Amino acid sequence: MNLRKIRLILILTLIPEVLVLAFFVFSRTQSPPAAGRALTEKLEIPRPAIVAHRGASYLAPEETRAAYLLARDLGADYLEGDVQRTRDGALVLVHDDTLERTSNVAQVFPGRETHTVDTFTLAELSRLDFGSWFNEKNKDRARDRFKGLKIVTVEELIEIAESGNQSPGLYLETKSPERYPGIETELVNLLKRKGWLGERKCGPDLLPGDSSARKVATAGCGKSKVIFQSFSADSIKKLLELAPNVARVLLVDQEMEKKQGWNGIVADAVRMDAHLGPVGYLGWSWYTGPAHRAGRIVHIYTINSSWQLWLLSQLGADGFFTDRSELALEFFGRITKPDVETLFSKLVF
Ligand code: G3P
Ligand code: CA
Repeated sequence: MNLRKIRLILILTLIPEVLVLAFFVFSRTQSPPAAGRALTEKLEIPRPAIVAHRGASYLAPEETRAAYLLARDLGADYLEGDVQRTRDGALVLVHDDTLERTSNVAQVFPGRETHTVDTFTLAELSRLDFGSWFNEKNKDRARDRFKGLKIVTVEELIEIAESGNQSPGLYLETKSPERYPGIETELVNLLKRKGWLGERKCGPDLLPGDSSARKVATAGCGKSKVIFQSFSADSIKKLLELAPNVARVLLVDQEMEKKQGWNGIVADAVRMDAHLGPVGYLGWSWYTGPAHRAGRIVHIYTINSSWQLWLLSQLGADGFFTDRSELALEFFGRITKPDVETLFSKLVF
């Protein structure tokens, strides 16, 4: 092989590496990590924040006591949940508008499977099994103990966050808020009543029992112990009026971005003094950069694999909504390989 050919092969093999390097250098200039770090430090939000999306919902049925207890004990920074209201006014955690996917509503209330959550009383919802669907869908992660898991109220979620050896914060979404007039006021009032909107006494020194217990999550003791989130700008504006000192995150999907453009969304977020929670596709540095320059932090949903966590961290993400707290916490070196079996064996649900 002559020298010219060798040189050509060398150049051709180096091109992808050079392009990747150029991409990361460009990304760093678009979104320098220091910008997000400074913003999160001011807000006392861990970076990267690990937000247990619907609890540890890869390993346990979403938004149930099992999923939240596990996420808490793993050390997730925040317990995430979708707040809706029952017919008789209880604030409960359910993701979908209806109960079909995650409960046995069809069996218990035949004919009401497509009825929305607000048409059920708390007593009615309490008759439903929110665990068995998970076992049927995820045979490899099924557990007998999941059968019959009950709906969780916001009040119960608060109790979960307050107990145990970790202090996670609460990351609460007003879900379909147009269906629930006044829900923002009720949520704020509940959190106030429970002592979650002012100073909260918590921290490792206040732990009951073994004070040497390792603490991973402390977000629940800091300034941003509660974060509100919504896809609805109207709901975010109401939350701003009701609780201006509580951090707010405007969730952004691809449709919103197509309609308004990223700059328009960032401008809106600035007007509402909200931060941003875009879908993973909007995690590139040309999205995170302008957000940071406008003083907005960026928490991305829903990120469930190591390569995505790595890539999006390089591109400026300040945190992640993830179904896989166990994986994300280990990936970022916050915990060593979690012994999920032992954790589960200690949980009462
Ligand atoms: O709440 C964060 C993000 O995951 C929004 O999506 O549909 O899971 O509530 P969703
Ligand atoms: Ca949510």
